[in-house]
Order: sequence, then C-alpha cells, then structure tokens
Amino acid sequence: MPTSWVRADGTAILAAALSTISGVVVSGDSRGKSLGFPTANLDLDDDATLSPGVYAAVVKWDEGTYQAVANFGYRPTFAGQGLVFELHLLDYEGDLYGKKLFVTSTWRLRDEIRFNDRKTLVEQIREDIRQAREWFAENEFHL
Ligand SMILES: Cc1cc2nc3c(=O)[nH]c(=O)nc-3n(C[C@H](O)[C@H](O)[C@H](O)COP(=O)(O)O)c2cc1C
Repeated sequence: MPTSWVRADGTAILAAALSTISGVVVSGDSRGKSLGFPTANLDLDDDATLSPGVYAAVVKWDEGTYQAVANFGYRPTFAGQGLVFELHLLDYEGDLYGKKLFVTSTWRLRDEIRFNDRKTLVEQIREDIRQAREWFAENEFHL
C-alpha cells in the first residue's frame, strides 16, 4: 500500500477498497455547466464495482493527473435516467470529450440524495469539493 494512504500510527485510512474505473468521456445533458460544475460523463469500459454515491477521486489520462469529485448515481434531483458516472475535475479547464480517463475513487463522501432545488444541490457540491480538497490535503495525497 502506498505510504500516503497509511497514517503515522500505521493504520490504513481508506475505509473502502480502492476501485479504479476507466471509460471514455461522452456528452451528458450539459446541465453541470449551467450549475457551475462542468462534468465529464464516462461511458464505462466495464461494469462498475463501485457502490453508487459521491466520491473524491484521482483522475489520470495522457494530459496528467487531477483531483476530482465524482458522482455515481441516478441524479434524482432531475429525475435522471439510468446510472451515470460523472466527474468534476478540480483545477482543470478544458474539453475532455472523447478522452479515455482512468479514475480511482479514494474517499466516499456521501450517498446521492434528491434535493428540492438546484440551489441546495449546488451548495452541497461546493461542500463536497471543500471536503475532497481537505481530504487530499490532510492525507498529503500528492499527484
Ligand atoms: C460531486 C457531485 C455530486 C452530485 N450529487 C448529486 C446528488 O446528491 N443528487 C443529484 O440528484 N445529483 C447529484 N449530482 C449530479 C448533478 O445533478 C449532475 O452533475 C448535473 O445534473 C449535470 O448532469 P449532466 O452532465 O448530465 O447534465 C452530483 C454531481 C457531482 C459532480
């Protein structure tokens, strides 16, 4: 196990098993952009072994490695159709369409929930990003 995933006292900090998922970025409903969080929707190569939910994740592709927040779920706030895997990359601006990404979920943040309005969802995603950044910083997760 990489040392950055082990606390000073030797205990492993990952409650859930690491799960790496790959897939090509396909177009979503483009709602993410209007919410202020552009998301890349992945067409997964294999059936995901991950449980639905919101995660902090590390994303790699030929351009580099980035931190991200990921949602693997049904988007109940928008009566979404089917299970989708989507990512919002932190500190990245660019077009990912058609790229093949490798995603390792590092920390489960929460369950996906249905929000009454977009504003509350946006506030929660901001909080998810804050927690993910904090998690990466606290665990000295260097990319
Ligand atoms: C970190 C993160 C957390 C999310 N959490 C929820 C959630 O709890 N409930 C929900 O309905 N949708 C959630 N979403 C999904 C958003 O509703 C979705 O990204 C947005 O509708 C854009 O979808 P689109 O790219 O298909 O247009 C989350 C998305 C992200 C990136």
